[in-house]
Amino acid sequence: MAGKLKHVVLAYSGGLDTSVAIPWIKEHYGAEVTTLTVDVGQEGELSDAVERAPVNGARGALLVDAKETFAEEFVFPALQANCLYQGVYPLSTALARPLIVRELVSAALRLGADAVAHGCTGKGNDQVRFDVGVQTLAPHLSIIAPVREWNMNRTDEIAYAKAHGLRIHVKPESPYSVDENLWGRSIEGGKLEDPGSAPPEEVFQWTGHPESWPRSAEEITVTFSRGLPTHLNGRPLEPVELVRELNGVAGAHGIGRIDHVEDRVVGIKSRETYECPAAITLVQAHQALESLVLPRDLLNFKSSVERRFSDTVYEGLWYSPLREALSAFVASTQETVTGEVQLRLFQGSCRVIGRRSPYSLLSRELATYDRGSTFRQEAAEGFIHLFGLANRLAYARRRDALSHDAERETEPAAGKVSPPTPP
Ligand code: ARG
Repeated sequence: MAGKLKHVVLAYSGGLDTSVAIPWIKEHYGAEVTTLTVDVGQEGELSDAVERAPVNGARGALLVDAKETFAEEFVFPALQANCLYQGVYPLSTALARPLIVRELVSAALRLGADAVAHGCTGKGNDQVRFDVGVQTLAPHLSIIAPVREWNMNRTDEIAYAKAHGLRIHVKPESPYSVDENLWGRSIEGGKLEDPGSAPPEEVFQWTGHPESWPRSAEEITVTFSRGLPTHLNGRPLEPVELVRELNGVAGAHGIGRIDHVEDRVVGIKSRETYECPAAITLVQAHQALESLVLPRDLLNFKSSVERRFSDTVYEGLWYSPLREALSAFVASTQETVTGEVQLRLFQGSCRVIGRRSPYSLLSRELATYDRGSTFRQEAAEGFIHLFGLANRLAYARRRDALSHDAERETEPAAGKVSPPTPP
C-alpha cells in the first residue's frame, strides 16, 4: 500500500477511469472516498453517474451544478479576452479545470479530507491544471492521480471493475477521448492521431453531418452589454441559456469545427479536434464589436494581453496574480463594448455582416467620400511630412554611407597600387 490517507475527494465523471478509481484508492491508500461531480454543462446523465458512486464503494457522492458560475466567472471573462489558444482553440476544457479544482478543494476542506484525486493521465495538460491549482489553493492537501500511477489499460480496467463487482456502463469501445462542457467539446485519439488525414465524421456530435447543414444561410443578431452577450435575435437570455442556444443554432450550420496541431504544456504536439459553435461565433461577434468601439492603440495592446491571457489559462495558471491582473485589464476595456452584431451562418462558416453601437468610434462625417466630410484633408500633408521624417532621415544617411564606400573603392587604395611616399 502507498502512504496511508484518511479521506480522499475524487473528481468523478462516472466513466470507467474514475469508477475504477474508487476501489483502487481505497485499496492503495486505505482511504475513504467521496466523489465530486461538477456539472459544467456536459451532456449525458450525471445523476446516474452520481447514483453509482456509493454503489461502487464511495462513502458519499456530491453533485455541484456549476453551469452558471462557469459561464459567468470563467467563460465570459475569456470571451471578453477573445481567448483562442494558438489563435484557434477557445479553451473550453482549460477554463473548466480551475472551477472543478475550486469545488474539489472546497469539498475537501468542508469534509476535513486530507487528499484530492483526479483521473488525468500523465501526458496531458489537465493534470497540470489540477495539480497546480490544488497546490496553489490548498497546499496541505495531497494529490493522487490513479490513472497516472496505475499501469492498467482499458481491458485491465474492465477486468478490475468486474473483479470488484462495480456497476459501470461500458460504452461500446471508442478509440476517442472526449471532454465536453458548455463552451465546447474536445475529441482526441484513435484515427485523429494522424494529423495528415481528415477527421472521420463520426467524431462530431454538435455540428451534424455536412449533408444536414442547411442549404440556405441564417442571419442572427447578438447583443452585447459591456462586453457580455445578453440577447440572441433580440431575446434576452441568461448566460447559460444563451450559450446553449447558440451551440444549437450555430452547430446546426456546422460552425465551430476546429482541427488543430496543438502544443501541450508538457512538450507534446498533438492533433486536437474540437466543436465549439457558440464560442467561435461569440468570439467573432465580440471582436467585431470591439473593432468598432475601441481605439486603435487599445485594440493593439489588448491583443497582446489576450494572447498572454490565453496562454496563462491553457497552462493551468488561472490562480495566479498574473491572470488576475490580465483579467482586470480586460475588464477595464469593456465599458463601451455595447451594441449589436449581425452574423451570417452558412455551411460551416460564420461571417460578421453588420455591427452597431452607441459608442461607435466610426464617424461617418470623417470617413465619408461623399460631400459633407469634416476631415481636414489639407492637414494630412503636414502630418505625413512628420510621420515619415525619422525614416526619411535614416534612409538618407544609409544612402550617404553607401556612396562614400563606393567612392573609396574607386580611389586607388593607399600603400598598394601607388608607390610608397618617401618620408
Ligand atoms: N487539448 C485540450 C486542452 O488541453 C483538450 C483536453 C481534453 N481533455 C481530456 N481529458 N480529454 O485543453
